[in-house]
Amino acid sequence: MAERAKLAVLLSGRGSNMAALLYAAKAQDCPYAIVLVASNDPDAPGLQLAQAEGIATFARPHKGMARSDHDAVMDAAVRAAGADYIALAGYMRILSEGFVRGWQGRMLNIHPSLLPKYKGLHTHERALEAGDSHGGCSVHLVTAELDDGPVLAQTEVAILPGDDADSLSARVLIAEHQLYPRTLAAYVRTRAGHADGAG
Ligand code: GRF
Repeated sequence: MAERAKLAVLLSGRGSNMAALLYAAKAQDCPYAIVLVASNDPDAPGLQLAQAEGIATFARPHKGMARSDHDAVMDAAVRAAGADYIALAGYMRILSEGFVRGWQGRMLNIHPSLLPKYKGLHTHERALEAGDSHGGCSVHLVTAELDDGPVLAQTEVAILPGDDADSLSARVLIAEHQLYPRTLAAYVRTRAGHADGAG
């Protein structure tokens, strides 16, 4: 197989989507490998898990830093690791335009709603309040506007009678863990095919 694309994952919390990407990358035919897990929170549980799995980690708290300065530090760490792609996985920061521009077409995010519905926070509450039949999750390319980039793939998750935000988010998370690795792998394969013309 051709060399794997190098992936950096940015997270702020528990890192279950990072774990899904990481374990999917253990498959022999996975077209990406995680080279760095980075966070704005040195105590993010996702960092511990990455370390235990032998993945390089980086953390820099954003407190007291201008947004663009903090983004520049994260960008430098990701580039030093040799990353070709960034996967945002619960990275709770609005990104500056310069950072986003530098990774155009190479930075993906997972969002727990069926975009364009419910950008931002509290997506499950909003789906329940609206009386939707389905919640779900979306993987999209990151653009300067929050949760607004082109959607690459989505999974619908049925809302059950009696669901609350916790029960719905737990089921959506199962779907997230399957959607993100699969969508990222397909995206990387498509781009690699275009890059070397081999398909
Ligand atoms: C997920 O629900 C993801 O869709 C959202 O943030 C949450 C992160 O969870 N962007 P985890 O840290 O991956 O467990």
